[in-house]
Amino acid sequence: MNRQTAIQKAKTLLAQMTTEEKVAQMVQVPYTYVGREEALRWAKLGAGSFLHVLGEDAQEIQEAALNTRLHIPVIFGIDAIHGHGLNPHATIFPSQLATACSWNPETARIMGEVTAHEVSADGLHWTFSPVLCLARDPRWGRVDETFGEDPMLAGEMAAAIVKGYQGDDLADPDHILACAKHYLGYGEATGARDAYDTECTERKVREVFLPPFKKAVEAGCATIMTAYGSIDGLPLTIHRRILHDILRDELGFTGFVVTDWDNARSLVTRQFVKETIEDAAVAAATAGNDMIMTSVEFYDAMLAALKNGTADLSIVDEAVLHILTIKYEMELFEHPRKQATHTIGCPEHLQAALQAARESITLVKNDGMLPLSETVKTIAVIGPNADDIRAQYGDWTYFSHPMPDPDHIPERPYVTLKEGMESLGAAHGVRILYAEGCNILGTRENISEAVQVARQADAILLCVGDRIEQIGEGKDRANLALSGAQDALFEALSALGLPICTVLLSSKPLCITKEAASNAVIIAFNGGMFGGQAIAEAVFGDLNPSGHLPISFPRHSGQVPVYYSQLPGWHDGAYCDLPSTPLYAFGEGLSFTTFAFSGLTFDPNTLSLTLKVSNTGSRSGIAVVQVYVRDLVSSILTPVKRLIGFTRVPLEVNQTETVQLSFSRSDFELINANCESVLEPGQFTIMAGPSSKDEDLLTCTFTLS
Ligand code: BGC
Repeated sequence: MNRQTAIQKAKTLLAQMTTEEKVAQMVQVPYTYVGREEALRWAKLGAGSFLHVLGEDAQEIQEAALNTRLHIPVIFGIDAIHGHGLNPHATIFPSQLATACSWNPETARIMGEVTAHEVSADGLHWTFSPVLCLARDPRWGRVDETFGEDPMLAGEMAAAIVKGYQGDDLADPDHILACAKHYLGYGEATGARDAYDTECTERKVREVFLPPFKKAVEAGCATIMTAYGSIDGLPLTIHRRILHDILRDELGFTGFVVTDWDNARSLVTRQFVKETIEDAAVAAATAGNDMIMTSVEFYDAMLAALKNGTADLSIVDEAVLHILTIKYEMELFEHPRKQATHTIGCPEHLQAALQAARESITLVKNDGMLPLSETVKTIAVIGPNADDIRAQYGDWTYFSHPMPDPDHIPERPYVTLKEGMESLGAAHGVRILYAEGCNILGTRENISEAVQVARQADAILLCVGDRIEQIGEGKDRANLALSGAQDALFEALSALGLPICTVLLSSKPLCITKEAASNAVIIAFNGGMFGGQAIAEAVFGDLNPSGHLPISFPRHSGQVPVYYSQLPGWHDGAYCDLPSTPLYAFGEGLSFTTFAFSGLTFDPNTLSLTLKVSNTGSRSGIAVVQVYVRDLVSSILTPVKRLIGFTRVPLEVNQTETVQLSFSRSDFELINANCESVLEPGQFTIMAGPSSKDEDLLTCTFTLS
């Protein structure tokens, strides 16, 4: 339904609602938390939304809601974060971080679309995704949920996944609402302590954290989730400037805002800025939260405040209008249950997950060991994450929160690395041996057995990483070194003198500083159902890796932050006991072929860039061209380089392509000390190449007036 009609209908309905019915629309009830009986009671009261209900349970709630006086349907939200993973039969994609390694927005769009098809096949309407926080401090527990450290890359992936979730029309029965979260600055909490304060100015908020949300809003994202934390001491939950003035007046957002889990009550119980739930309810609604997740006390508190005059009904009216308008735009009244035609876990969806996993494989070192040569007849697959599907999935599936079912037998199909190596090994005539070596959490270790197994092989594939006990909310890490005996395992294996390839299967960058001495290093992150297969394909050379890192890797926990877009300063940013460079840089990623970049030109009149990329190696591959800018002299410090464009270029052997990219003046703007977006005339350097490393980049300097 078009927006204008939806607004009209919402206004008409609002005029018929009692105050109680209005306030109930603002309540989002946590199904698993309150239980079925209580959930049904809320449905009869007219609660606007429920979260974490699947399948038939959701339909029971919906029927209760439709039996109320005004028959207003409920909207069901779910955390379908990398696939509809809380449903054990669903297709599980790589994590957002792994997907970002593809530098391919189309992959994010497809992941969103397949997820939408599966969520709607479950009768649900809305996913709390994507996460648009930036992961600039890898100690944070939720790095896996992000598209990495860069605002531009995250913004492009965000716009694409939002389109994938929502399709072209909110009323499409096969698509669902997206929710850009967590607004704002949440990934930058001080010390990477989840949900704590972000020590940050509005200028920096605008320069770094706002851009991906702007892209999501431009892509039509229907909902936004408020962050847990605070910025410079003011909780986002009551930050009207950010939730209302910037979001609605500046970015032009027209959907509805939902708080994060229990944000309203946390104003009293965790952040101590409100004395009573009544004060908290009024403040949260006044600041611009339309829907209140989980803090169901909001209902009584808001009604009391309206009665005693501490809140104005216009606040409630505005919020309910936002919610009802989206419900009408979705044609929820006509179709309270999604009527999707797609099947959860169908072959087409599984194929999309496999393709996404392939594109996520990022090769950061290779001395020629990979692809395995024909002389390798036996390979030892070693390591704690080589055969652990829970680790491969990472967070937000049926094994982890919020509906943890850790004892659930993992549902097929999925392929661990060991299994992928076994099936491809059979096809290539290579024998696969296996030993765990040690576990991740340091409670089990059998290095000598692993060494015995490896001795019988011609090469070693070592798979290290983390697991779900070390990932997610409240699981920030002070120490980014590999846990348990993983480093010792590597040292014992490398002492054998055999070729060794290390695979990092983890939620985020870990300090694999020792393992970097391996002959080859693959960063796989959480590859979803077919992560193991994709890695095995790369090892055997059936897949030519094309992933590039969306995040920088520190050498040591004490080196963070190491994101590439640092501000300039003294001493090269180095500690006296470490090189100034990261272990692996943003944008890095190798191929089994080689690419040459040449002939960079930039026309300051048309703001267009040209360069040539050639495949100079011996097999076809995909180059990722990255374009960075540096403002040479500016009124305020600007980053030493900042990504402003990228494109993937598939190239056959000996093929050369001319790449042309166009920019707009806004790509060269900075946020000045007055928080204004301005282009300051002067010289700029454009850099283009296959990574953010200086030595990989062609440069060209020009003047903008
Ligand atoms: C998380 C959100 C999530 C919500 C609902 C919160 O704890 O921060 O990202 O969508 O729970 O599960």
